[in-house]
Amino acid sequence: MKKRLLLLPLLFSAHANSDAIPLEVLHWWTAPGELESQKILEKSLAAQNIEWQNFAIVGEGGDTALRVLQMRALSGNPPDAAQIKGPDIGEWAKVGMLDEIDKVVDTTSWQDILPQVVRETVTYKGHYMAVPINVHRVNWLWLNKKIFNELKLPVPTTWDDFFITADKIKAAGYLPLAHGGTAWQDALLFESMALSLLGAEKYRKAFVNHDEDVLNSVEMIAVFKKFKRLNTYLDQSLVGKDWFNASKLIATDKAAMQFMGDWAKGMWNASGKEAMVDYMCVEVPESKGLFSYNIDSFVLFEKYNFQARKNVQSLFVNTLLSKQFQTEFNISKGSIPVRNDIDMSKFDACSQKSYRAFYNGQLVPSFTQNVATTSHLQNIITKIISNYFNDPQADAAKTVKRLSLAIRAVK
Ligand code: BGC
Repeated sequence: MKKRLLLLPLLFSAHANSDAIPLEVLHWWTAPGELESQKILEKSLAAQNIEWQNFAIVGEGGDTALRVLQMRALSGNPPDAAQIKGPDIGEWAKVGMLDEIDKVVDTTSWQDILPQVVRETVTYKGHYMAVPINVHRVNWLWLNKKIFNELKLPVPTTWDDFFITADKIKAAGYLPLAHGGTAWQDALLFESMALSLLGAEKYRKAFVNHDEDVLNSVEMIAVFKKFKRLNTYLDQSLVGKDWFNASKLIATDKAAMQFMGDWAKGMWNASGKEAMVDYMCVEVPESKGLFSYNIDSFVLFEKYNFQARKNVQSLFVNTLLSKQFQTEFNISKGSIPVRNDIDMSKFDACSQKSYRAFYNGQLVPSFTQNVATTSHLQNIITKIISNYFNDPQADAAKTVKRLSLAIRAVK
């Protein structure tokens, strides 16, 4: 609740004038929590006399948004800016559709204020092609505090403990795992487990470098088998639902655990829940020091008359990276700032934990959030994982083979 009050002055103080410059922005922040964060962005831009024109596309963790964007771009009418991240930035840059950020603003200071992994993520052929906005941690396990207290359950730190805990929760009549069953969410469960069981190096080899030896390994087959066990702890009526439908069950004390990125925290905090009081953020079992990251960023589309548009573009970029915005937006979004010089004392305990892990842990890009691969390849990988997860007859060894062949075909 405290956090929401902090944001109110910003939300109500900024108003765009009638002569405000319009800026059309495509994004997929449409869930509870995300909407509040998007409003902060809108108001911050209004304070710079920029009128936010909302091009919001609901659903599928951005999948639909990217398809709509392709259609708009192909018809020669892209929005001014769009939420594009990871290797997709390079794909759009490659076809010459983006403005280089270093032509829009002076990016000299980025070298000092942005961590290397962030800079690399938004760079293509030596140029910054997107403005980074936050770092989400993907491999979290969220626990409902009330249920864990009531059942006197310790935090599970190994997978064996996890399954014992899940059985106890089930026996007590609560839902062990809140999980909306869409392909990317199934794959997110897999990703968190695979990172923990394989470790950072093999995860990287498999899902960033697509090394066929690791993809086809006995260890990978074992990961798939263990992953399948998670399916027995779900509510099947949530299949096909978005992540926040599942997260609501944590907020209403109906479900005890959820694997999800920390945007879920943005939603809980927006409804007045408090980190470590109502819910806990703990490491995915056997994942100490491992951090799978997801970096949100915006690209600027190249349009007619660059000089005339440069002013609004530079205001956009500089606002997003200002200290005030980085603080207010990320407190709301559940993520941590992309800058390394922000005072973290106003952030909740989970963000502070994430910040420490980001600067001290082993970082890997999340493939389910398409930070490790293009969204095209990500879709193929996530579908194979999801089909395996939902098909009781599916075989782990055959799935592993199918996965490595599919990746080979696309690469
Ligand atoms: C985005 C987050 C967003 C989440 C759920 C992720 O891919 O990076 O900003 O909150 O999807 O919609």
